[in-house]
Amino acid sequence: MAKKSKFQCPIGMHDILPEEQAYYQKIYDVVSNIADFYGFGKIDTPIVEQEELFSKGIGLATDIVNKEMYILKTKGGDSLALRPEWTAPLVRAYIENGMQSLPQPVKLWYFGPCYRYERPQAGRYRQFWQFGFETFGESSPVIDAQIVQIFYNVLQELKLKNLITEVNSIGDSNCRPYYKKLLTSYFRNRVASLCVDCKRRLKENVLRILDCQEEKCQSIKSDAPQILDHLCEECHKHFKDVLEFLDEIGIPYELNPYLVRGLDYYTKTVFEIFSNKKEDKSLEEDSKRVALVGGGRYDKLVKVLGGRETPACGAAAGIERIKDLMKSQEIKLPKEVLAQVFLAQLGGLAKRRSLKILEIFRKAKIKVAESFGRDSLKAQLNRADRFGIKYTLIFGQKEALEGVIIIRDMQNGNQETVKLDKVVEEIKQRLKK
Ligand code: HAM
Repeated sequence: MAKKSKFQCPIGMHDILPEEQAYYQKIYDVVSNIADFYGFGKIDTPIVEQEELFSKGIGLATDIVNKEMYILKTKGGDSLALRPEWTAPLVRAYIENGMQSLPQPVKLWYFGPCYRYERPQAGRYRQFWQFGFETFGESSPVIDAQIVQIFYNVLQELKLKNLITEVNSIGDSNCRPYYKKLLTSYFRNRVASLCVDCKRRLKENVLRILDCQEEKCQSIKSDAPQILDHLCEECHKHFKDVLEFLDEIGIPYELNPYLVRGLDYYTKTVFEIFSNKKEDKSLEEDSKRVALVGGGRYDKLVKVLGGRETPACGAAAGIERIKDLMKSQEIKLPKEVLAQVFLAQLGGLAKRRSLKILEIFRKAKIKVAESFGRDSLKAQLNRADRFGIKYTLIFGQKEALEGVIIIRDMQNGNQETVKLDKVVEEIKQRLKK
């Protein structure tokens, strides 16, 4: 076991080691290809923003703002927060960079770390990476369906199985206040049977009771009034259209009237994509449904954060959760291209010139392994053997003076001396065979 070091990674955060990078790279490649196809432009924003952007944008009563933000005071006295998500920063960037004056919709995507001071557990980290897609300036339900489709496509392209897409509508400022009143009076009459958290939610954000996972709240929830029965005409039509578009493009989905999301900015459509691990007996009940993607429409947020009223819709996915699922579903990644050539050097002059030879091969796009720290030829040939190398180039004092190099075929041990300026061509020919 590795010795415990004096310093450790902060709790809930991880180093991304070289062997893990291939997953991030694969996810990045799939996401950026899809973004390119659908016409999304990539955006990066600072990792910190004014704290108020999130408290105003996500909502003061949400867990993210209430309990989970990393806040720091700068020397100048500003209160900044590590971004817990990307939507509020994107809205800030959209307004600040004058994107409201561009032809709409403006479509943006992102890929990077977020920070939430959560209780760490499997699939729940304090530093985690998200990628996301956001569309600004378009109110049509076709956009909602397209956002779901884009995420579904990414997960399919990554070959993930057992995906479940859940959708709901949580109405807008026309119909939601009345529904919340109904819900409040329903739960108030049953407050004694609610869990401690839901008693608090009843005061702060009654909708959140609907996605409580506590056993004791389940039966009370199941008889609660449902939002879909109380949508105004506009929200009802919008939701019906979204579902029709999803049917048309053949995305399987389930209606979940309890899906409300943990951020306050949503209007109308909300959705999540889960991986279903029902069969996995080793998992706790609440880790059998891991949300990979979450999002929806947020038509009021641009205005709330100081812009003109602008409809918007988007979602984000958790990259570690996707990576963990790729591993557990044994999804293969493209194999790393291994070097087929090894450069062994002997003596001071040869070692100095070897750095140049390596550069010639790099420019010719031929991967060459070396072990410049070792001086004995035997040790270097052993290394080449261990890498499964086809050809070793041997470059000693004599070769360096004569401008030649030895090519050794590692399978049969045959050696041939060639001119240094012909070696790349010669190796290319041999590798072709
Ligand atoms: P969210 O549901 O909070 O939504 O996060 C989106 C995804 O990020 C989750 O489905 C999950 O995969 C991942 N995630 C969240 N928290 C953690 C964590 N502590 N550890 C690991 N993964 C995590 C948002 O962030 C919204 N901004 C999505 C959105 C974009 N809505 C509209 N546009």
